[in-house]
Amino acid sequence: MTDSTDTIDWFRHTAPYINSHRGTTVVVGLRCGAASDENFINVVHDLALMHSLGVRLVVVHEQNAFNSQPLSPVAIHRAVADTLAERTHIEQMFSMGLPNSPLHNARLRVIAGNFITARPLGVINGVDRSGRGLVRHIDVAGMTHALDGAAICLVSTLGHSPAGEVFTLDALDVMGAVSRSLGADKLIIMSDFDGVESTDGKLQRQLTVDAARRVLETAGEGQKEALMLACDACDSGVPRSHLISYALDGGLLKELYTHDGIGTLISPDEYEQIKGAEAHDLAGILELIRPLQQVGILADRSNEEIERRLDKFTVITKDSRVIACAALLDNPADNIAEIASVATHPDYRDSGHGERLVAALIDAGKQAKLERVYVRTTQTGHWFQELGFTMSSHEVLPDSEKQKAKIDRNSKILVRAL
Ligand SMILES: CC(C)(COP(=O)(O)OP(=O)(O)OC[C@H]1O[C@@H](n2cnc3c(N)ncnc32)[C@H](O)[C@@H]1OP(=O)(O)O)[C@@H](O)C(=O)NCCC(=O)NCCS
Repeated sequence: MTDSTDTIDWFRHTAPYINSHRGTTVVVGLRCGAASDENFINVVHDLALMHSLGVRLVVVHEQNAFNSQPLSPVAIHRAVADTLAERTHIEQMFSMGLPNSPLHNARLRVIAGNFITARPLGVINGVDRSGRGLVRHIDVAGMTHALDGAAICLVSTLGHSPAGEVFTLDALDVMGAVSRSLGADKLIIMSDFDGVESTDGKLQRQLTVDAARRVLETAGEGQKEALMLACDACDSGVPRSHLISYALDGGLLKELYTHDGIGTLISPDEYEQIKGAEAHDLAGILELIRPLQQVGILADRSNEEIERRLDKFTVITKDSRVIACAALLDNPADNIAEIASVATHPDYRDSGHGERLVAALIDAGKQAKLERVYVRTTQTGHWFQELGFTMSSHEVLPDSEKQKAKIDRNSKILVRAL
């Protein structure tokens, strides 16, 4: 394959992700060191690209690791100055016209401001933790207004009290509070490690919250707090949290716009879901079945036909991406219906997805009081036989389908009684 074919292929494969992330709110937490890393310019490019693809972006930056030691007035002054210097550095990078990037001349509006009201950490163990604060309130209306106006919100770890005092805040507290308050769809924590590793050192691509909490016991100190935040965010309603490295070129794009991502995804539910197809699944279904139609493995159906009959499809999704699909094409006048367009993405075969889908459609057929289902297949007769189908002929087909069957791909007909 030539390079350009690779690129075209890659671009086509990103379409379902672009569609599913458009209009979603994503909070990106930049841990300490991210903004000074040599890869940071690439992170900014990726953020700008995500923004131009319709993602509503909030960026929280951590200039310095938080601790609860009290700060003298001079130290507070220095901490504020350092944080504002980093904020300015980030704003500057977003304002550079992004030379040498595809977003050259893109005009990005970054809004930073007094989005956080804070309260003092107070006296702990007899020590007044002056200068240290906790998030009290997030100005959701203000941030939503900025996001609606297509701006990127930039949030620093500083908060002000109604009395006018300034406090330094724990970035993890800020990331969690912002994600929760905005009802974010994702929290992406960018740290100096690649993700969560199993005991044998293998990167865990995905974990449920329960599994992630079990890993907490063995995680290193820096990882533990990020992992805890990711789990807490999911517990409080953020559907997905991701842990990725800020040092990997293209990390954000790989995590959001490719199959398996690059870091660790944490989600409250089982990662794969079986469900009726929805409008946003259409692109994924087409991506899955089009190549199989082109080589004659699946019957040719136009995009319009598939869109019209989308409610007949059941899909298995993995982080919003369709990895397997099948349709029950029933017709109220007939007591037999076709199971069609059964396909599992090549990367996910031999794990029971196909069988699960056929079983779900058989259940749906029973509920619809159908007597039989049939399939037309050129290469998977044996597979369907193992699922209880038996060889038959086009005589069993509903009248409306008999004519079509004669000009079909010389496929075999198999039937299963319900
Ligand atoms: C057929 C297909 C849907 C199975 O999906 P899947 O998710 O891998 O299915 P399952 O995991 O439930 O089943 C896999 C088993 O079926 C077997 N199998 C796969 N294709 C087969 C075929 N053409 N003939 C016989 N057995 C087959 C696998 O070897 C595997 O066997 P094992 O469990 O003993 O290892 C998938 O291979 C596919 O998308 N094929 C292309 C499209 C197609 O042919 N669709 C059917 C026409 S409607």
